[in-house]
Amino acid sequence: MNRKTLVVSMLLSTAMLTASTLAFSSDDDEKWGFLNRWFGERKHEVGVAPVENPQYLEECGGCHFPYQPGLLPARSWTKMMAGLEDHFGENAELPMEDANAIEAYLVKNAADHSDYKRSRKIMKYMQPGETPLRISKTAYFIKEHNELTRRMVEDNPEVGSFSRCESCHTQAATGSFEEHEINIPGFGGWEDD
Ligand code: HEC
Ligand code: HEC
Repeated sequence: MNRKTLVVSMLLSTAMLTASTLAFSSDDDEKWGFLNRWFGERKHEVGVAPVENPQYLEECGGCHFPYQPGLLPARSWTKMMAGLEDHFGENAELPMEDANAIEAYLVKNAADHSDYKRSRKIMKYMQPGETPLRISKTAYFIKEHNELTRRMVEDNPEVGSFSRCESCHTQAATGSFEEHEINIPGFGGWEDD
């Protein structure tokens, strides 16, 4: 082995060692982070797919934040669409044709049909037979929000409920829920350590 080959192979093995250390680090979120940084994370896969369906925005975004379909599995949307006459205590019934079109949109883009990071996480923490109707009752959601206090949510006049994603996640409408974008009204940003 000449000197040049030796240097090259030493550099290569250092790189491989670093890569494998990172790959086997215990933090699930960052496990493949180095690959994303090396090969350029595809930005659109960070959060959940944004809503680009005007009919959905109009019919399901009138009373609350238009939750992206990638926040619940298809079976949840099917169940929800079958019970709109009693939708969390409200009547949200739609003409059959509109309901069918919206259901097809929700099912097609549901968490179990999506490659986006947050959709995959929601499915990863969900039991196979579980059909939650609330995003805020999924195991992944609960795990991510367990450090928040009543004063920040229920007793906070500018929030009121976990269902109001957009009151804390300033970029929620784009499908992004990154930590640095959080601003809890009256409390400010969020630093997890
Ligand atoms: C008439 C008003 C109204 C309309 C229209 C409406 N919703 Fe809702 N929705 C509610 C209320 C009220 C809640 C409960 C919010 C709370 O607990 O703070 C809710 C909750 C939800 C939640 C659960 C949020 C959570 O906590 O995770 C989902 C998902 C949802 N709606 C989807 C839809 C979809 C899909 C449509 C369109 C087919 C729709 N909504 C239309 C009133 C409405
Ligand atoms: C009262 C403010 C508040 C509300 C309302 C809220 N969140 Fe959050 N959310 C947070 C905070 C704070 C964190 C960061 C928790 C942590 O990292 O420890 C978080 C974390 C997350 C994460 C993980 C982000 C990451 O980088 O790990 C997702 C996804 C998320 N929220 C989605 C939602 C959705 C969807 C809704 C509505 C159904 C919602 N949140 C409602 C405050 C809120």
